[in-house]
Amino acid sequence: MPAEIKPIRTAVFPVAGMGTRFLPATKAIPKEMLPIIDRPLIQYAVDEAREAGIEQLVFVTGRGKTAIVEHFDHAFELEATMKSRAKTLELLEPTRIRPGNLVAVRQQVPLGLGHAIWCARAIVGNEPFAIFLPDELMIGTPGCMRQMVDAYAHVGGNLISVLEVPREEVSSYGVIRPGARREIDGMTLTEVTGLVEKPNVAEAPSNLIVSGRYILQPEVMHILERQETGAGGEIQLTDAMAQMIGSQPFHAVAFAGKRYDCGSKVGFVEATLALALARPEMAAEVRAIMQRLL
Ligand code: UTP
Repeated sequence: MPAEIKPIRTAVFPVAGMGTRFLPATKAIPKEMLPIIDRPLIQYAVDEAREAGIEQLVFVTGRGKTAIVEHFDHAFELEATMKSRAKTLELLEPTRIRPGNLVAVRQQVPLGLGHAIWCARAIVGNEPFAIFLPDELMIGTPGCMRQMVDAYAHVGGNLISVLEVPREEVSSYGVIRPGARREIDGMTLTEVTGLVEKPNVAEAPSNLIVSGRYILQPEVMHILERQETGAGGEIQLTDAMAQMIGSQPFHAVAFAGKRYDCGSKVGFVEATLALALARPEMAAEVRAIMQRLL
């Protein structure tokens, strides 16, 4: 990696949203704690960060979100009781975080994703950082952030993961205006020349949507500092990123894997079925049940 490209050591997980699409399930339980089989959504995102070599985790939490932080606490009584059952203790392994590597900051009012990221500014400091939206479940080998970190080592700057969707779906997402494409180490990197949040189908610059993984330079915090509101009256991350285009390198990498939108109910069900079918210990039974139901 060229010396001027600083490594990514910090991951920010904005988890302060209200999760209204899953009410009443999310009245007392954070959306990020809803499990796909036996792991809450946040666990999949943290696993992906660690696979990419990122150890410093910053959770941007809000009211009613303490369970997310507690999930990664040392469960003293539980572990004492389970001590004799070695296998059960093993199941807690993914929840262990090196002391000092987890920081929680509060977003007192959910003013938008951009605002949530800005709330992490003191921890991020003057270093590039990664962002994970845990309700977008990215399954692949290597994982999405691992692929992005590998691409970043070549180009530096800002990098987002994108996904092709049917054109009529673009108005629910951030959409990129694609520029030149190039291949590096088997990955396709597309220059990003523009970004629009939730465009009309007719005005959308492409059908490539921003999916929930980002590597950004710290300058984005200066732009978010202005607290400008965009689509839906929220402080949008997409708008802040759009302002960095032209002054810093900005690339999109197409994720070679599968993305499940677990912020939507249908996407959540799809992820549950797909991951169950990928589990050798339950695949046959689940397939038989699905066939019966159909
Ligand atoms: P969503 O747009 O999915 O909103 O946020 P939400 O509140 O989680 O869910 P719904 O739409 O009401 O069902 C995308 C990501 O941004 C975070 C969310 O936690 C989620 O990870 N977010 C959003 C914040 O942290 N703060 C905000 O003010 C808004």
